[in-house]
Amino acid sequence: MMALPEPLADAPRRATPPLIEQASAEQAGWRGRVARAFSRAAPQYAERASAQRAMAASLLARLPERAGAVLDLGCGPGETAAGLKARYGADCRVIGLDLAPGMLDEARRTHGDPVRWLCGDAAVLPLSEASLDLVVSNLAIQWCPDLASVLAEVRRVLRPGGRALINTLAPGTLAEVNHAWSHPERPAALLAFRDAGEHRRAARAAGFRRVDCREVAARFHYPDLAAVMASIKGVGAQVARPGARLTRADLARAARRFEALREPEGLPVTYRLLTLELST
Ligand SMILES: C[S@@+](CC[C@H](N)C(=O)[O-])C[C@H]1O[C@@H](n2cnc3c(N)ncnc32)[C@H](O)[C@@H]1O
Repeated sequence: MMALPEPLADAPRRATPPLIEQASAEQAGWRGRVARAFSRAAPQYAERASAQRAMAASLLARLPERAGAVLDLGCGPGETAAGLKARYGADCRVIGLDLAPGMLDEARRTHGDPVRWLCGDAAVLPLSEASLDLVVSNLAIQWCPDLASVLAEVRRVLRPGGRALINTLAPGTLAEVNHAWSHPERPAALLAFRDAGEHRRAARAAGFRRVDCREVAARFHYPDLAAVMASIKGVGAQVARPGARLTRADLARAARRFEALREPEGLPVTYRLLTLELST
């Protein structure tokens, strides 16, 4: 979901104190690009997001029996948030939060007002301390450069006894896409995925009492390179730098390299899915 032939691997990472101002500006620029890319993708997201939906299902299988206040963090067009509302009923307050206004417009249009739709950044949640029982998040936090702040915010808004169920992606995600687009003079651009150890350490530093982190490979197949790229770009995982251009020769080369990986079911795309279960 988040690799492109354009140089993408420039997501700002956490900075040491003397660089904080520069890092804040970089992070603001990054957030703007992420929000625009996902807003553009919003109208066709639901149609293209079969891989994301399959990965969300594994998260929903772990839901606690009861919850009175729930956040879907990085809710996209709102399918999971609407599902949480249906699952926990009228007495449960469900919030869907996303950085991309276009995603929230789509969520409102499709699922209406039973869910409260909020525009905001996962690293600075516009929510009160200890106000939620459950935070669910599917495939959003890999877009956040500051993992420590995101997990600290999730911890802050959870009540004692609260839980977070988070799906994110680990290194090795989209390895086939990386291989196909790699070029001696222009490495393929992948988000810098963080590994399980980094997530565990950040969750403990955020103050979670119980930290469980599992990694599995989720594999999907597509008929051709165009379908692979549509499955990535179609869900908004595209934050190209201005000026990045692809030639026909680049496309032909990538198609040849991907074809060499073909399996009976089609062209494979691997996601290394990390599921975090955190308790306060
Ligand atoms: C791949 S989509 C996943 C959407 C949805 N959770 C799903 O399962 O289909 C990632 C979402 O994360 C949102 N996102 C990215 N960075 C974010 C941030 N810093 N704060 C909140 N949402 C963010 C994007 O706007 C996008 O809607």
